[in-house]
Amino acid sequence: MTVIENSKLTVVGAGSVGASTAYAALIRGSARHVALYDIATAKVEAEVLDLAHGTQFTGSSDIVGGSDISVVEGSHVVVITAGAKQNPGQTRIELAGVNAGILKTMMPQLLEVAPNAIYVIVTNPCDVLTVLAQEQTGLPPERIFASGTVLDTSRLRWRLAERAGVSRASVHAYIVGEHGDTEFPLWSTATVGTVPILEWESEGHPRMTVDELDAIAVDVRDAAYKVIQGKGATNYAIGLSSARIVEAILHDEHAVMPVSTVLHDYHGIDGVALSVPSVVNAAGAHPIPQTPYSPSELGLMRRSADALREVAASLR
Ligand code: 2OP
Repeated sequence: MTVIENSKLTVVGAGSVGASTAYAALIRGSARHVALYDIATAKVEAEVLDLAHGTQFTGSSDIVGGSDISVVEGSHVVVITAGAKQNPGQTRIELAGVNAGILKTMMPQLLEVAPNAIYVIVTNPCDVLTVLAQEQTGLPPERIFASGTVLDTSRLRWRLAERAGVSRASVHAYIVGEHGDTEFPLWSTATVGTVPILEWESEGHPRMTVDELDAIAVDVRDAAYKVIQGKGATNYAIGLSSARIVEAILHDEHAVMPVSTVLHDYHGIDGVALSVPSVVNAAGAHPIPQTPYSPSELGLMRRSADALREVAASLR
């Protein structure tokens, strides 16, 4: 990856997700300058030191950080990971109240020092927080969006690639909707190479059944619960997903990714943030309106929208 000259990423929140995002960004060379900001001075300074100590072995990216908001100044992209995390058995939605409060306090401070940045919200529930932060800041929806189901899509492609016996890059399938319990895969358009998913077979890899795909979708939906049960948090995969989104922005890639933006007139959905295949470039995220949905997929999308609309309304 060519590091874009002078590009600056700030990661807000020095917990395990924030630190892993900075770590992934340093290793991948996602931005020339990586900054880590947190109000917990000792914690953030220690994370920055630990990351800096390894930069002999990374590329040309550097890392700074601390608890002074000036750390965020000049950022092209700000990734927000600050907030309470899920406890084992807790849903993402259960974090809404406390994390909405944290974001509400933080957004004006961030915007004051980084008024032109693109904001990527990773803190959960990321869809609900995105709609609230977009309304609060008045930023255009393309400039404030959530990492959404980029991670869930990676989880799905990993499973399908193993099952189909092809590389993960050759699986074309998306998880869309809420980053959470109502998310679902777009099976109607999923392919391996160019072969519809239910028709794929190769030596040692028999055809998949609808029941099998349904079981994979459930595993993907519940994947974070399993990881949180075992180690208390998820961090590496979300760190990598976030770094990848940052690259698509800074490299003006026009990459298609299922990030979560506040939708307007999208297949009849308005005023909620949901992940849908979107073009991500230097201007931000742009949902692709001509994405085809089967009638049942549209029904699931509306169910996701209704669930999130209700949570957001309870917090306004
Ligand atoms: C994840 O899906 C918990 O949202 C986090 O890993």
